[in-house]
Parts: sequence; structure tokens; C-alpha cells
Amino acid sequence: MIPKETIDLIFESCVIEQVVGSYLPDLKKKGTNYWACCPFHNEKTPSFSVSPTKGIYKCFGCGKGGNSVNFVMELGGFTYPEALRELAKKYNIEIEEKELTPDQIDRANKRDGIYLISSYANKFFQKELLDSLEGKLVGLSYFNQRGFSKEIIKKFQLGYSPKQKDALTKQAIKDSYQKEFLEESGLSFFNEKGSADRFRERVIFPIHNYSGKVLGFGGRALNPKNKAKYLNSPENLIYHKSKVLYGLYFSKSEIAKQNNCYIVEGYTDVVSMHQSGIENVVSASGTALSSEQVNLIGRLTKNITLLFDGDDAGLRASFKSIDLILKEGMNVKIVMFPKGEDPDSYSKKLSQKEYLKFLSEKGKDFIQYKTELLNKTSKNEPSVRVKHIKDIARSISMIPDRLLRSEYCKLSSSLLDLSEEDLLKEVSVFLQGKQSNPRIRNSSPENHSSAQINNSEIKSTLLDSCEREILRLLINYGDRILEFEEGKIKVSEFIFDELNHDKINFSNEFYRSVLGEYKSLTSDSEVININHFLQHNNDEIQQLAISFVSKKHEISSRWEDLHQIFTGDETKNLEITIEKAVLSLKQAYIKSEISKINLQMKEDEDPSIQIISKLNKLNKALVVINKLLGRNFN
Ligand code: CTP
Ligand code: MN
Repeated sequence: MIPKETIDLIFESCVIEQVVGSYLPDLKKKGTNYWACCPFHNEKTPSFSVSPTKGIYKCFGCGKGGNSVNFVMELGGFTYPEALRELAKKYNIEIEEKELTPDQIDRANKRDGIYLISSYANKFFQKELLDSLEGKLVGLSYFNQRGFSKEIIKKFQLGYSPKQKDALTKQAIKDSYQKEFLEESGLSFFNEKGSADRFRERVIFPIHNYSGKVLGFGGRALNPKNKAKYLNSPENLIYHKSKVLYGLYFSKSEIAKQNNCYIVEGYTDVVSMHQSGIENVVSASGTALSSEQVNLIGRLTKNITLLFDGDDAGLRASFKSIDLILKEGMNVKIVMFPKGEDPDSYSKKLSQKEYLKFLSEKGKDFIQYKTELLNKTSKNEPSVRVKHIKDIARSISMIPDRLLRSEYCKLSSSLLDLSEEDLLKEVSVFLQGKQSNPRIRNSSPENHSSAQINNSEIKSTLLDSCEREILRLLINYGDRILEFEEGKIKVSEFIFDELNHDKINFSNEFYRSVLGEYKSLTSDSEVININHFLQHNNDEIQQLAISFVSKKHEISSRWEDLHQIFTGDETKNLEITIEKAVLSLKQAYIKSEISKINLQMKEDEDPSIQIISKLNKLNKALVVINKLLGRNFN
């Protein structure tokens, strides 16, 4: 236990830019903050920032953020106390361990005891396999028959647990190991009648942690009478099945080197692939992939390739795993094996070269994979198709990175033969719902700021600002009723009627798309809620809506500057506000048309009659509009 005062001292001593800088040599100061390429996701331009004043780091790309201790934990894969110790070392802070409570001492002792007995059992099983007659006859011949080489058996420390009911337990007790730890580890059972080994008459796959300590075992039955083909150590103080990956210890360096990690179903797949020379492979063995496991891989690479045999169970498992991996901000590919083959069996059919070729050629992006499945199974069945589309949309909504999300929408809409807009809508449903990824929310403030830059980059021509003003009024007041002498009309209807009448469409692409969305919402006879835009999954649109509600004053004062019109409280006389905005848009529209024609006429020495007459019409219309604006609103 690290005393609270020491923890405080460590926190106080940490200089975030020093801590981060010592791990990221490319950290550079720009303005008040420091910037580097994010160590937690792949990127070429820096979006990872460090704020010395706030003492935190934050990645605008993947959304990760925290203080010095979080950084060390995340980067080094340390636990909280480990990270504190690491930082204490850095700042020469001595840690005086606090005295442990009896309960803590008990747990620590138990943990040590389980580690010890596991290491002992690991050696026992290996020795049984390689040196005993039974081991050789039963265990080793099984492995040989599976095609496992002597080297690979040694490398993975495979073993054999004899048929005799209590072979391990008896020997361990004879060697002075305590009953308590044999029981706690799950290696032995004790009752009044005596004791028994959990793994008797099985070949043994020891399970190692990240640094190579044995945590537990998997045992495969050799006697066909045995109902459970595979048996694993139970959860205990050191073995938590959702927090370990089989093979990670032997594969970690190759995973980092290849910048990709294959995930297979079980022990034999991992061992076989290693034997055939593919060493960046792990297995969740027996359990569904967990986020902790994905993060273990995430320390080494952001790329995961799932290898599944072509049966239904494999398929279903892969769907869940895909979303999980995406949620952790990692990239996922899928390789489907031919029917009846698994990574183990297939590794025996192909040479290493052929196998690698198969893996790289068959590796499909998850979207491509799901889409192909969709096209295969539900081409002509609308309800199934809809289900699959929703499924894909949900997967896309899991991706924390906004840009990546929109790239996937583009890609899959074309693969699915579905409009991008429809797919985006579907994705946004999931983004707003509970199912969506909390990381997305965490990273949204940064996304906003980048969207703000985009917005401000929009050329602010007069026409642009008029179009923007129309959108602002639509989004704020679209559902309100205007009362004219001629009768009542909804704001949105009034605006759309006016635009239609004069065949005006927005010139600014972004505003046009928002207007289009608004229109399609009204045609669905939906009541338009401003929240639709405030919670929009397109950050740029969301930002626009936010600026409409939060910066009302700023916009209208700019509006006033531009037009020398003073609005006062715009809602007091909404009729005037809306009409004025529409007229101003028309004025700007005509002006822009006139200047376009003028430009054209400069180049064209002999303009056509039509052009000249169009110019005349526009000029006349402008006079009318100017008058209307002047008379009614000045
Ligand atoms: N597995 C498991 N629990 C089971 C079945 C399988 O954990 N009840 C895992 C094992 O890790 C195994 C992998 O899934 O390595 C592949 O399963 P399977 O092919 O059924 O196991 P094999 O030992 O290869 O059996 P067989 O010889 O029948 O192919
Ligand atoms: Mn098999």
C-alpha cells in the first residue's frame, strides 16, 4: 500500500509535459499547449495535446485523456499502484509502504501461494508429458498426432496430467505445498474421502500472463468418455479469464512488430499457427472476447484480425467481438475459413507462405464482411435487409472517431446500395441511443472545435450569411405560426413557399444540405424539434445548431451590421423578422446572379439577347426588393 501522503506528493511532483515528453520525444510546444502524434491510435498529424496549465493530456483524435498517472497507466499497461511507483522512481520519491491490514496480508499471501503452486504444477505437468511412460504414450502421442512439434510443445510448456486420481495433489503435498493453495487455485479438490486432481487424464495448456507467469491451465480430455472436452482453471485471486489472452506472452513482440493481432478461437489454433510461423496470434479461449482483453492487445497494436471458422457459432461470436473492438477505438478485419476448417486445421493444409497469403487476401474489413453476408442472405427480403442495415449502422456508431465513422458511412452506403443520408440517419439513431459508445461523448468537445474551424472557414459572402440566417430562423422558429393579413402560416411553410416561388436554392453546399434535411423532416410530417439538430451526429451540423441557440446575440448584431437593420427582439414581431430575412436572401440572391452575369459579359464580347434580358429582369427585381426592404423595414 502506498500511503496517501506519498500519492499526493507524486501527483504534485508530476509535470505533465515532462512525463509525457519522456515517452514521446516528438512532443512540441505550440502556443500554450504541447502537441504530438497520439501514442494510443495511429495518426500522421498530431492531435494529441498536453496542457501544462490543466495538468492533463487529451487526444482530439481518439478522445483519450487524463493526468500523468493515467498516461503512464495507459501507455505502459500499468495498474494504478504500478504507475505511481513508476512515477515515484522518476521523481526520486521514496515510497514507505504502509503496513498492510491483516486482510490485505492474507490476500497477498494467498495470491503468492497460488502463483507458487501454479508454477509448480506447470513443471509437474511438463515433466509428466515428457518423462513418464504414461505421458509419452498418451499425452505426447496425442500432441504428435495433432502435428505439434517437440519445439512447439516445449515453447508453450504443454503438459500432461496423469490418469491417477490425485497424482499432482499427492506429489505437491509431498513436496510441502499447502493444501489451501492447491484448493484455492482449483488444481485440487478435497473432501472427507480424500483428494482429486481437476485435470486428470488431460493434456495441459498453461495460461501465462503478460510477463510470463503461469496463472492457470486449460486441459483437453483424452478419454472420449469424458464429457467436457476442455476444462479451465476456475476464477481465483490470480486467474481472471476475461483479463488474460492465451498466447499473448509468446506473441506480444510479433504483434507489435507486425502491427496486427490475429484472434482465434482456442489453444490449439494459437499453437498451430505459431508452429506454422505466424506468431502474432492470441485466443480468448472459451470465453467471449472482453474489453479488457481488447485493451491488452491495444498496448501493442490497434489492428485486430478475427479468424473464425465458417459455422454459425463462430459467426455470432464474431459479430459481438466486432462491436467490442470498434468500441475500443481499434480497427477490425475478419477472415472466414472455408466450411469445416479452422485456423488449426488449415495451418496444416497450407505452407506458411500460402497461409499468410490466404490471411492477407481473405482479410476483410468488417463492413465488407457484414455487407457480403447481407447480400448473401437477404437480397430479396426487405425485413431481413433492414435488420442487417441496422446492425451495420450500430457497428458504425461504435467507432469513436467521427471522421472514420463518416468514411465508413460512405463506404457502406455504396456497398449496401443505400443512400448515404439514410445510413447516416440510422447511425445517428444509435449514436443518440443508449447503445452508443461513451468514448464518443468524451471526444465530442474536441470534435466540435474542429467543426467550428470548418464553419468559420466558410466564405462569408452576403449570400452565405443570408442563407445562414434563414437556417437559423427555421431551426429556432420553424414550427411557430405567423399571422399575416392574408391568413396564418407556419414559419417553415412560409419560407419554403417563398423559396419555391422564386426557385431559389441555397448556394452554400453545407447550408443547402442542412436545408435539405430540414425539408425532408417536414415532409415526414414530423414535428421538428431543435434537439434533432443540437444532437446531430454530424458535428458540423450540430455546431451550427449550437451557434444558433447560444450565440443569438452575436449573430443578430452581425446581421444588423451587415444590413444596417435593427431587429430588437426578433420574436416580438416574428412576421417582420422572417419576411425581412426572406427578402434579404432574395436581394442577396439577385445581387449574386447579377454579378455572375456581369462577369460572364466581361468575357463574352457579344452577349446573347437572353442574357441581356435576364440581366434587365434581375435589375428590375432588385429595385422592387430594395424598395420593399426599405419601405417595410427601415
Ligand atoms: N474450446 C474450449 N472449450 C470447448 C471446446 C473448444 O475452450 N468446450 C477451445 C479450445 O481452446 C480449442 C478450440 O476451442 O483449442 C478449438 O475447439 P475444437 O476444435 O473443438 O477443439 P480440438 O481440441 O481441436 O478438438 P478436435 O480434435 O475435435 O478438433
Ligand atoms: Mn479442432
